[in-house]
Amino acid sequence: MAEVDTSNLVDVVYQSGIPGPDDPAENFFEASKIYPASIPWDVPGVARLERSAEMRQMSTRSTRRYEGRPVLPLPESAPAQASLESVLASRRSADAFDEREVSAGVLSSLLSRSYGVTGSLGEHSLRPTPSAGALYPLDIYVLPSRVESLRSGGRYHFDPFEHALTDLGDVDGAALREATNAPNISGVPAVQLVISASFWRSRFKYGQRALRFALTEAGHLVQNLLLLATAHGLACRPIGGFFDARLTEVMVDHNGVDDAPVYAVLIGYGSDR
Ligand SMILES: Cc1cc2nc3c(=O)[nH]c(=O)nc-3n(C[C@H](O)[C@H](O)[C@H](O)COP(=O)(O)O)c2cc1C
Repeated sequence: MAEVDTSNLVDVVYQSGIPGPDDPAENFFEASKIYPASIPWDVPGVARLERSAEMRQMSTRSTRRYEGRPVLPLPESAPAQASLESVLASRRSADAFDEREVSAGVLSSLLSRSYGVTGSLGEHSLRPTPSAGALYPLDIYVLPSRVESLRSGGRYHFDPFEHALTDLGDVDGAALREATNAPNISGVPAVQLVISASFWRSRFKYGQRALRFALTEAGHLVQNLLLLATAHGLACRPIGGFFDARLTEVMVDHNGVDDAPVYAVLIGYGSDR
C-alpha cells in the first residue's frame, strides 16, 4: 500500500473513484450551505420567528420537561480551583476509573457551569455553552454509578432553568455499557453523561443547517464538561463511537430521529491501572 499522509487521505476515501451524486455526506453538506441569494429558503424560520412573538416565547423554554416525575434540587456547586491555563494544559482522555464517588456539589458544578442558565438577553436566557440563535437544542442526561445522593443505575435529566435533576427511573447497566461501546476503558466511571439533541428546537429556524449547529454545540458543551471535570481533579473521556440504536433504546424516550443521543462523556476519579 502506498504511504498515507494527511495530504493524500482524500485518495484513500475516494479510492474507488469520485463518489456519485448519492454520497450522503456530500449531499448533506451541500444541502446545509447558506448563500446570500437564497437565505429565505436556506433558513426559512428566521423571518417566521421575527414575525411571531408566540414562537419567540416558545423557543426560549428550550429544555425537555418531564411533568409528574420526582424533582431533586441540586446543591450549590463545589468550587473548581484550577486555573484555565493548567486545565487546558492537563486535560487528557482517561483510560481507567477507580471506585471513588463523585460528590453532589461536583456534579452540580459540572452541569450548571456547562449548560445551566447564567444570564439573559431580552426574552432569551443564556448559558455557558454558545448556541445558534440561543435555541439550545441539547439536553444532558445523568447516569450515575457512584454519585453522592443519586441512585446507582438511575437516569436523571438536568433542568437548566430549575438547577435540578428530574428522576426518570432506572437503566439496565449492562445495556448501557454495551451501547456505549468503550471496551478500551477499565473500571466503571462514577457517572456517564449522555448529551442528546432535539433537532427541531434548532431546525424550525435554521432548516438543514440546524444539524451542523446542534453537533457543533454538542462539541462546545462537551469541551466545557471536560475542562470542568479536569478542574475538579476528575478523569474523563468523550465518547462519540457509541452504538446509536442501542443508546437510543437505553434512553427510552428518544426516537433516534427527531431526538437522539449525539455524544457521551465518562467521568470519575482516574486510576493508574
Ligand atoms: C468527537 C470525538 C469522539 C470520540 N469518541 C471516542 C470513543 O468513542 N471512544 C473513546 O475511547 N474515545 C473517544 N474519543 C477520545 C479520543 O480518542 C481522544 O480525544 C484522542 O485520542 C486524543 O487524546 P486526548 O483526548 O487525551 O487529548 C473521542 C473524541 C472526540 C473528540
